Amino acid sequence: MISSRATAVAHPNLALIKYWGKRDSERVLPYTGSLSLTLDVFPTRTSVRLDPSLSQDSFSLNDAEVEGGALERVRAFLDLVRERAGQRTHARVVSQNSVPTGAGLASSASGFAALATAASAAYGLPTDTASLSRLARRGSGSACRSIIEDLAVWHPGVGHDEEADATSFAEKVPGPRLAMVIAVVSAAQKSVSSRIAMKQTAETSPFFDGWVSSTTKDLEDMQSALAAEDYTRVGELTESNALRMHAAINGNRPVIRYLSPTSVALFDAAGQLRGEGLEVYATADAGPNVAVLCREADLEQTRAAFAVRFPELELIAARSGPGAYLTEDA
Ligand code: DP6
Repeated sequence: MISSRATAVAHPNLALIKYWGKRDSERVLPYTGSLSLTLDVFPTRTSVRLDPSLSQDSFSLNDAEVEGGALERVRAFLDLVRERAGQRTHARVVSQNSVPTGAGLASSASGFAALATAASAAYGLPTDTASLSRLARRGSGSACRSIIEDLAVWHPGVGHDEEADATSFAEKVPGPRLAMVIAVVSAAQKSVSSRIAMKQTAETSPFFDGWVSSTTKDLEDMQSALAAEDYTRVGELTESNALRMHAAINGNRPVIRYLSPTSVALFDAAGQLRGEGLEVYATADAGPNVAVLCREADLEQTRAAFAVRFPELELIAARSGPGAYLTEDA
């Protein structure tokens, strides 16, 4: 029997090989595959309750009603769910999200992973991980990876249109035990969203073609390095791929630059610590915050090393986290 109400929890993920650019915006199909670590911090908990008395979907986030673009994005996502489920009933969506929204800490990833999981259960769609990952992708590309625990590779999909839609999802890959220290340079809403900025990179950056070809190769190399548990290679590829993404973004017109002087200083500090024997590597998404990759066994030492160098920054220690899961209603 279809339950008309469901609650799900999902966590953010941080990409070691980045997703930057859609070859199909409607279906959210990327130019390249990407690979990430799902984290054990900042869970999003979302419940979806079908309500025949509603004439529109409603959405509250952290106890405040959401309006405007964010509400429209949730409604468009639920329209897709209803179309697939052959249903018309609208829903009340209630979400609690502990990540600073829009701060480049991937709140859309945990948000749409939790929404896809809860909505699939509430509307009676399949809840196997591949189906959930395909659906979450339609809300936000990186969300497809938050369905999966630990390390996840997102396949770009084969071919075009429906075939590509059916074959583009994330799945688990084996690898060493990794962790991250997230340095919160700014918790403010970012100036230009990833969605808009990645479209501009594809359309205006002369470096975009190089980004696509080199990331395709980086992903292959990363999968080999993970399979071989070659942590050094994993770290080198992580840091280099992030800087290549930012190099591609730096070619945008109008200009966008996400990394601040403090972000760059954090990358430099990672390099200095490697010179001192602590093997850490930096990465950054579409914002100034920097995530420092380390071996899980080095997490506390890594956090302490950055706390000494950057006493003014909030530092969040994160380990490998679970995939999205259904839970009891709150
Ligand atoms: C820099 O998944 O937020 O974090 O698909 O438009 O919702 P949309 O974009 P989004 O982009 C994430 C970009 C990134 C890199 C990554 O997570 O791989």
